[in-house]
Amino acid sequence: MSESEPFAGRTAVVTGAASGIGAALASGLASCGMAVVLADIDEAGAQWSAAELRSQGARAIGVGVDVSDPVSVAALAEAAYAEFGSVELLCNNAGVLLFGAVADSTIGDWRWLSSVNVEGTLNCLHAFLPAMRRAKGWRHIMNTSSTHAFLPDTGHTAVYSATKHAILGLSLGLRTELAVDGIGVTTLCPGQAATRIMDSQRSRPDSFGKRAAEPFGTGVIPMAIEPEEVARAAIAGIARQDEIVFALPGHSQDQFRSQVEQLWRIADDALATHADRLPRTGESADAIER
Ligand SMILES: NC(=O)c1ccc[n+]([C@@H]2O[C@H](COP(=O)([O-])OP(=O)(O)OC[C@H]3O[C@@H](n4cnc5c(N)ncnc54)[C@H](O)[C@@H]3O)[C@@H](O)[C@H]2O)c1
Repeated sequence: MSESEPFAGRTAVVTGAASGIGAALASGLASCGMAVVLADIDEAGAQWSAAELRSQGARAIGVGVDVSDPVSVAALAEAAYAEFGSVELLCNNAGVLLFGAVADSTIGDWRWLSSVNVEGTLNCLHAFLPAMRRAKGWRHIMNTSSTHAFLPDTGHTAVYSATKHAILGLSLGLRTELAVDGIGVTTLCPGQAATRIMDSQRSRPDSFGKRAAEPFGTGVIPMAIEPEEVARAAIAGIARQDEIVFALPGHSQDQFRSQVEQLWRIADDALATHADRLPRTGESADAIER
């Protein structure tokens, strides 16, 4: 398969495309011959990145959008179809992060994270899926989750992890649902990428209450991989129709694997402990109770 297959001549919409992984995805997809709609709450950033891609010969536009607002997302879909006529790839990538203990978090923190990370994804699916389902040929959705969707919380990220668990669940279910329409779904799970994610609150609206404390600062995550590396893994995974794509630094891969195995061992032990109390095929729960 050539690098441009199945991308060339088709259109991608990438949310969160003014920075980090989204910007790298937009650039990588443009290199594969796609027309790209770069969408971000940072409208100036999205337009600047789109102008950069156009200066390299790509077809690209920048659009301001707040993914948590269905009206704003509907306008994004209208702009995308008006400019390029079709959308074959939707990358629901916009996302925000907060560190901090659950006990210290506010309901505003939760509402902001879930409105961007979870509702934002759902709003984009609602806006783009009807036309994507009516269309024919190659079509694909990629939702950005995180390695945090698999981990017991290890670093005061339980609230963020909850939103990324939601995206994993949503994406795995969506993949099954959309198979009949011939639309592929990939879940991207990056870990430790060198982006502006630690400074997420730069775009936090006042309506979600005061900014949370930033215990680890707003700089770049140390010993991280470059967003271009995440984008390369994601684009290769989309081309292969992978269900899940992981992209994390080599030094943390063994630790991640052992944490996932630990999670599996907890489930395995729990299943073994309760095996005699679980109903078997053809046996009612009442029978077990008796
Ligand atoms: N960087 C990492 O280590 C890492 C790890 C796992 C998952 N992720 C996920 O990758 C995705 C991209 O994050 P990143 O690391 O590139 O961070 P980033 O901060 O560099 O980029 C995120 C982009 O999303 C945009 N955004 C924020 N709120 C928005 C809204 N309401 N509407 C539209 N756009 C909005 C921001 O303006 C920004 O341009 C996120 O979903 C994040 O959770 C990142």
